[in-house]
Amino acid sequence: MQSIKSFKALLVIIAAMTAVFLVRYGVYAEEGAPAGLYRKIKPPEKYGSTVMDRGLKDSRDLKPVVFPHWAHRSDYSCKVCHTDLGFKLEANTTEIKQSDIEAGKYCGKCHNGTTAFGVKECERCHSYGLEVKGGRNISDALKNLPKDDFGNRVNWAQALKEGKIKPRASLDGQGKLEVLDSDVIIPVTKYDPHPPDVLFPHKIHTQQMACDACHPSIFKDKKGENPDMNMMKIISGQYCGVCHGRVSFPLDDCFRCHSQPAKKYEPPKKEEAPKK
Ligand code: HEC
Ligand code: HEC
Ligand code: HEC
Ligand code: HEC
Ligand code: HEC
Ligand code: HEC
Repeated sequence: MQSIKSFKALLVIIAAMTAVFLVRYGVYAEEGAPAGLYRKIKPPEKYGSTVMDRGLKDSRDLKPVVFPHWAHRSDYSCKVCHTDLGFKLEANTTEIKQSDIEAGKYCGKCHNGTTAFGVKECERCHSYGLEVKGGRNISDALKNLPKDDFGNRVNWAQALKEGKIKPRASLDGQGKLEVLDSDVIIPVTKYDPHPPDVLFPHKIHTQQMACDACHPSIFKDKKGENPDMNMMKIISGQYCGVCHGRVSFPLDDCFRCHSQPAKKYEPPKKEEAPKK
């Protein structure tokens, strides 16, 4: 029984890793492919470009809004928008009216014609499927940042560590983030044999977001108190998958999380094997 389970788990790991390998040399995702689906990878400018159409479903004249994370995250930390301005960490869950934006809330806090282009330029935001004039080209805009194979093809963590980007902690640039420099090792417990254990670094996360981005809504802040966490849930957008696979580096990059030394595989002992 044990060896059948182990064999199944091994197959799952091999299949997942083969899929990742294929994806790297594969075709890009088609237009409109669901966000959680990354058997095909998105082109860099579409990765983390959140489509918002909550209040636009019946609109014939206006396209859905496309919010490009890559165009904002060099200048603003996640905290500015997700803690201070009230955008939720899931597409289409924040209730936003155009009148809110015109009154200087949400996008309108910055898109006022001074900090960034103003609210009258409808098509620059309502841009889904359109060729937009005035927008930057991702490879020019991000050309000085360290490269990566995945996502926006930018290693955002490295960019931050090297000081190549300095996202503000608050809108006026005066605020500070509470940085916690503590690593948590999350042992992989679900299957055997399994990939190396996961290291979760608080530092890189708390340099960009407040504790309340994760605690208590995504993770209980106690080691081992999130026993239901597993890879399938992460792939379907829970736990680490709230951000990784949507905005932060995608899940294809297995060993960036499973970064602890691999344990030697111990086959089940002979005497435990089922009798013939
Ligand atoms: C300038 C504002 C802004 C900044 C900065 C920002 N976000 Fe967002 N984010 C948004 C908006 C707007 C949405 C869409 C919310 C909605 O539709 O309800 C969003 C959605 C998301 C989602 C959900 C995406 C999905 O497909 O469901 C995630 C995850 C996310 N942001 C993570 C981050 C992380 C991590 C950072 C920092 C690296 C960050 N955001 C920085 C504005 C921002
Ligand atoms: C800075 C970005 C931005 C600009 C510019 C912008 N919008 Fe929007 N608009 C949004 C966002 C974000 C939403 C919310 C999308 C959602 O969740 O459905 C929205 C929603 C809407 C809605 C549906 C909600 C409601 O209030 O009925 C309408 C209608 C709308 N916009 C009209 C316009 C028009 C007309 C213009 C140009 C005069 C415009 N918008 C310019 C970002 C923008
Ligand atoms: C915290 C400030 C801030 C918020 C909030 C914000 N933006 Fe921006 N946005 C900027 C700045 C700054 C730029 C770059 C300057 C410019 O293009 O005018 C920008 C650029 C953009 C661009 C152009 C990207 C390109 O191609 O160069 C789009 C599209 C955009 N924002 C959409 C949105 C939408 C939609 C929202 C709300 C859902 C939003 N932004 C919220 C500050 C903000
Ligand atoms: C990006 C998400 C995220 C953010 C932001 C975050 N944490 Fe955590 N935190 C985690 C995860 C994941 C764990 C590990 C939980 C587990 O072991 O099941 C954890 C564990 C903890 C623990 C228990 C660790 C231990 O060693 O016992 C504490 C205490 C904690 N966090 C405090 C904080 C504080 C304080 C902040 C803000 C300064 C913060 N966290 C920000 C994700 C986050
Ligand atoms: C709320 C959003 C969020 C959640 C949840 C989250 N992360 Fe992250 N993580 C980020 C952001 C933002 C970065 C910066 C790099 C990037 O965006 O690609 C990052 C970076 C990392 C890095 C740093 C890589 C490096 O090169 O230094 C590791 C490792 C990591 N995350 C692991 C995890 C693990 C494991 C979990 C779940 C236990 C998790 N993260 C949950 C947002 C998140
Ligand atoms: C963003 C971080 C992150 C990335 C990237 C990641 N994992 Fe995981 N993985 C985790 C966490 C956290 C767990 C849960 C550990 C626990 O609580 O047992 C896990 C668990 C697993 C497990 C154990 C079985 C299970 O369901 O819990 C397998 C197998 C696995 N991951 C395979 C992979 C493969 C293959 C990839 C690359 C395609 C990958 N992981 C990428 C964070 C990550």
